[in-house]
Amino acid sequence: MIGRAGLLFALALSATAVAARPATTPSRATNFPDRPPVAVGTSWYPEQWPEERWAVDLAMMHDAGFNTVRIGEFSWSTMEPQQGKFDFAWLDRAITAAAAHGMMVVLGTPTAAPPAWLTQAYPDTLRVDEDGKRATHGARRHFSFASARYREFARAIASEMAKRYGHDTRVVGWQIDNEIGPPSFDDEAVARWHAFLKTRYGTIDTLNARWATEYWSQHYNNFEQVPLHATGQQNPALLLDFKHFTTATWTDYIANQAQAIRAHADPRQFVTTNTMFWNAGFDHFALHRDLDLAAWDNYIPSGRPDWVANGANHDLVRGYKQRNFWLMETQPGRVDWVPVNRALDPGQVREMAWQAIGHGADAVLYWQWRPARNGQETYHGSLLGQDGKPNPILGEVTRTAREIVTAAPALADTQPVARVAMLFSYDSRWAIDLQPLNKGFDPVREFTDFYRPLRIAAQGVAVLPPDADLSRYPLVVAPALNVLSADTAQRLAAYAQAGGHLVLGPRSGMKDEANALWPNRQPGPLASLLGAHVDQFYALDKPVSLTGAVSGTASIWAEAILPDSAGAQIVARYVDPGGWLDGKPAIVTRRVGKGSITYVGAWLDPEAMRGLASQLLDKTGVRPILTGVDPDLEVSARAGAGRCVLVVINHGTVAHSVAVPAGARLLTGSLDHGIVQPHGVAVMEVRGKSACR
Ligand code: GLA
Ligand code: GLA
Repeated sequence: MIGRAGLLFALALSATAVAARPATTPSRATNFPDRPPVAVGTSWYPEQWPEERWAVDLAMMHDAGFNTVRIGEFSWSTMEPQQGKFDFAWLDRAITAAAAHGMMVVLGTPTAAPPAWLTQAYPDTLRVDEDGKRATHGARRHFSFASARYREFARAIASEMAKRYGHDTRVVGWQIDNEIGPPSFDDEAVARWHAFLKTRYGTIDTLNARWATEYWSQHYNNFEQVPLHATGQQNPALLLDFKHFTTATWTDYIANQAQAIRAHADPRQFVTTNTMFWNAGFDHFALHRDLDLAAWDNYIPSGRPDWVANGANHDLVRGYKQRNFWLMETQPGRVDWVPVNRALDPGQVREMAWQAIGHGADAVLYWQWRPARNGQETYHGSLLGQDGKPNPILGEVTRTAREIVTAAPALADTQPVARVAMLFSYDSRWAIDLQPLNKGFDPVREFTDFYRPLRIAAQGVAVLPPDADLSRYPLVVAPALNVLSADTAQRLAAYAQAGGHLVLGPRSGMKDEANALWPNRQPGPLASLLGAHVDQFYALDKPVSLTGAVSGTASIWAEAILPDSAGAQIVARYVDPGGWLDGKPAIVTRRVGKGSITYVGAWLDPEAMRGLASQLLDKTGVRPILTGVDPDLEVSARAGAGRCVLVVINHGTVAHSVAVPAGARLLTGSLDHGIVQPHGVAVMEVRGKSACR
């Protein structure tokens, strides 16, 4: 049993404001103006190697052009070999050695890997899966996110580290834990779940009403009766609230350590955590609210990059804080955790680094420097081999690092340019995943399908949460805003009235925040603004044709729309002889106030998506930065005071040309008469007030 005081203490944390500090230099890798504006480096695990080797490794990193190492995450058993007995002498020496070789240090708290003394003495800190099975020691992430005792240990190690290194300016920032994610279903988690529901709903009657528990006799007499579940044949209201619960629990799990660090740290040291791509475990916008910046780990497990899809990942991460971010890990070639761990082709590791920077990364760190002699990841891609000598990829990484360092002064204090915003809603994604109706309806894939032609044509897209300030964006696209609160609906309506162009995709406006159906048909609270509603939706097992101003086909999902107002114009109709959809509107648009609202009721094929995107961009006057570029060429722009840095990457296998803007200066890469070679990169600076237009 945990002490009740411990539980109350931990619960109280969520209520305590742990404010992220305002960044003094918002578009640099660190808040230290005298340090490199762009970080480049690697994860380094000094605890795995004899100390005599450290200087060799660090000198090699320096030669590779690196200026940053991340250390410490996973080294709990070395930092605290026995309960309460801390040993930081080795870490002092490692930081000193790193700094002597010109490295900035990011310190990771080691709480993703609790030591054996802890889990043996306190098995209650171990995670329990949904079937009630408790995790055993030997892997990582085997702790319970709900355990008050675990949080006390985590707080203690984070405090000890912060006391020692909080004022050590060789340390530029902190990473809390590592890729948090798996929830736990232990007794403390259940107690927190009940407390969470009480806070959310106030009374059990409210919960019953919002969840519609008359259905299948689910009525609850009190909160304690509500089971904790993530999957299974549960009420989708409960399952969506489970996600809200994991979001809240992880947020205060992180806040516990952030508080411990900030109590002792120099305010210039940033505090972050590293996240995984499209991780559905919690709402990442909410999780980052009190962190200083976002950081993520970008892997291409298949070894076959789709640049547009990967770009959407970066834009999502940038959206967490709407500021530049860290690429805390990326792969030097291959990973080791999918069935076929193919290496990226020559040139693609460099493309990935520049892509990240183009999308707003101010740091690129490789995972990892050298494989441990043993352990779970000996087959993973690394910069050195087991003999401590370079792997072939180190040449490409060295070239990339040196290029980044060359361009860094121009990149300092610049941020990506985007005039199109797309809304990503975790609630909507979860709600659709819980009740897909068509197994092919993957909300992330659908989001990416909308994103693709917009990103290619507009050369910049911001990904934002539904409640963001949208006033800067002439065009806002919400691909499947299934869960739409009354508040958000009101904000979106105001945005359109004020001159914005709002586009909703299929399944939008169907549910409220409790995953209940809106009583009126889609798009629910925006149906009157649209002057039309969805009469019926259909899961498709084969494509249906579309005709009109947008043509092509619809697959997976199609909605028949009925106009209610003369102002609702039909953009496209279905052609479906003998079917329900035949002749029915598929896309409608209406002018409202100074802007417009458009509803797209179908999952469009690439041709129709392209047609729609180009019409929307025309209508809203959004122009590309460089015109007439091939879709294999990625163009990104970062704007700063009086200048624009253009990052052009040829992700294809044949050369392409670009119309180089007048006065552009090549910072790095190559651009021979406007030709970008296959897998080539050209980074240019253009000076002038509106250089990024
Ligand atoms: C069965 C059940 C009903 C309902 C339908 C749905 O027939 O008896 O309660 O679930 O399936 O198809
Ligand atoms: C994640 C983890 C790292 C490592 C890599 C391997 O990003 O954070 O510790 O396991 O995956 O791809």
